[in-house]
Amino acid sequence: MKSVLGYETVDFDREHHALVIVDQTKLPGELAFLSLRSPQEIWDAIYHLKVRGAPAIGVAAAFGLAAIGWQIAADSPADFMMQLSRHREYLCSARPTAVNLGWALNRVYGACENLLSRKLDQAEGMPEMEKVQRLREGLLQEAKRMKEEDIDICKRIGEHGLDLLKPGDGILTHCNAGQLATCRYGTATAPIYLGQERGYGFHVYVDETRPLMQGARLTAYELQAAGVDATLLCDNMAASLMAQEKVQAVLVGCDRVAANGDVANKIGTSMLAITAWHHQIPFYVCAPLSTIDWNTATGKEIEIEERPPEEVTQMWYRQPMCPPGVKVYNPAFDVTSYLLIDGYITELGVFSTLEEIPGCYLQSDKR
Ligand code: MRU
Repeated sequence: MKSVLGYETVDFDREHHALVIVDQTKLPGELAFLSLRSPQEIWDAIYHLKVRGAPAIGVAAAFGLAAIGWQIAADSPADFMMQLSRHREYLCSARPTAVNLGWALNRVYGACENLLSRKLDQAEGMPEMEKVQRLREGLLQEAKRMKEEDIDICKRIGEHGLDLLKPGDGILTHCNAGQLATCRYGTATAPIYLGQERGYGFHVYVDETRPLMQGARLTAYELQAAGVDATLLCDNMAASLMAQEKVQAVLVGCDRVAANGDVANKIGTSMLAITAWHHQIPFYVCAPLSTIDWNTATGKEIEIEERPPEEVTQMWYRQPMCPPGVKVYNPAFDVTSYLLIDGYITELGVFSTLEEIPGCYLQSDKR
């Protein structure tokens, strides 16, 4: 039987015009797929983390908008674009922290705008409904391009990340920045999978990642499926592991990098970075360049998603594990200071500060 790595995390069903995802809330017990078409069910899938991880959310939203495009009943291209824009805003509201969600939705929407203004508006004699159909196809083509790019980017992150590691290294990772969080290979797991192919014999330590257990349910599962030597630990055990010199590098993914290099990633990441700093272990953030938000100056300005208390009190327990009515603090992400980050592993290479990235000063809208 194929392992989870043999399936597409995010895809488009051309026949039914539907977004198709692996339902990550069912893993590791069941490998189930969801076929989604309506705006509400696509929004729900993103909000409830059926599809999750910054790059996967971006591509899912892009395919999701394409699926919605097929259901929009519009009598003109302008009407189509107006309705599409409303759906874009709605999907974007599902989760606030990952920059890729808005970035991906704007990119596919922008591709449609270009198609309309550069080609279709000039196509005299083309029936309005034909133009609407061309816009639907344009949306889908752009979403497919994004998926292919994501696969290529993760591969390149893998190559650059592997250059920083030695055979036999112990690597600690947090949450799931794996294949399930992207279209293939993952970001933080890409160097691990490549090392596995090349016989590096890594020992990978996986934080369980409370409260939603992405490390335990997803990372441990996919690493095991790939035959990687993976060991699961509770989030409060990393310092003990590091003190025993079992960890030579920490690799994490990220949801948004601010222009000063601060990083928002799954709650617990900053605690890990502080611990790694204390033990003088290099701490690397693996991220596509699309995850850098050049318009947000520092991590303080990044909106951190707050999630329902039940995720902490009972979601993954047979029965509630705390007194009824207890107050709960449940931010989904935290911000790691750029001061604690040894390198950003991107598709263009490894950079110790964002200023080293070619063309970085051209990126901000506010320049
Ligand atoms: O809440 P999640 O599971 O979507 O959080 C995901 C993470 O924090 C990942 O580390 C991040 O999105 C990078 S995925 C390559």
